[in-house]
Amino acid sequence: MSDLAVIGGSGLTSYDGLEVVRRESVGTPWGQPSASLIHGRLKGVDVVFLARHGAPHAIPPHRVNYRANLWALHQVGVRRIVAVAAVGGIRGGLDSGTIVIPDQIVDYTWGREHTFFEDDLDHVVHVDFTSPYCEHLRAGLLGAACSAGIDAADGGTYAVTQGPRLESAAEIDRLERDGCDVVGMTGMPEAALARELGMSYAHCAVVSNRAAGRSAQKLSMEMILANLDAGVAAVRRLVAEFVTNGLAISEAPPEGLMTGAPPSGD
Ligand code: HPA
Repeated sequence: MSDLAVIGGSGLTSYDGLEVVRRESVGTPWGQPSASLIHGRLKGVDVVFLARHGAPHAIPPHRVNYRANLWALHQVGVRRIVAVAAVGGIRGGLDSGTIVIPDQIVDYTWGREHTFFEDDLDHVVHVDFTSPYCEHLRAGLLGAACSAGIDAADGGTYAVTQGPRLESAAEIDRLERDGCDVVGMTGMPEAALARELGMSYAHCAVVSNRAAGRSAQKLSMEMILANLDAGVAAVRRLVAEFVTNGLAISEAPPEGLMTGAPPSGD
């Protein structure tokens, strides 16, 4: 049984190197997750893998059932999540292929099912989200990057946009004024839902392009996916090093754990 999961984003729909033990289709009170959970072994360590956009990749960011995904992982015993996501680089120097382990989030999404406390109004819990990511998990990932010789940026603010369209140059200017370093479409409500369930959660953000208006290149999903390959290969090496040598450091309980009764999911 594993308490560690990897949620794979664009460019990481299946996990090469993961020795598949079994696939489990999990139903939840919130509906079906994006795909079957894949229980496997990576470098001898039990890991659960979930393809955020489905397998094959078919679910756009605004249609992902984030609640079902997080609930299903929690239900099978997962307590730590490494979430891999493609992002555009806003801050100078964050070019294609760079890996960022962000430490902050600004949520610009709207209309997504973003909490487990929607209906059960007797048990609403206002989770602490001051530090949206688990610092122990971040430290484990950064340590693994260092040991694997991967240059990962420590910290940065991840702007989460609604999608599925990419941003205008003026929108990226605004995000930059807001202090954002990278932009993607899937970071929320995933991180907040993990926090509501008391799970440790950290992002491995892979820069696939310069954000809109930050390079002369025309943006397209095809170009983003093509650029992801090198970054995703580095993420696989990072995660392999993390499960081999970085797990212990990430074992402390997550900060801001949910207090009070767990959401019922009724
Ligand atoms: N914007 C939003 N989401 C993204 C981008 C981007 O430039 N690149 C990869 N995901």
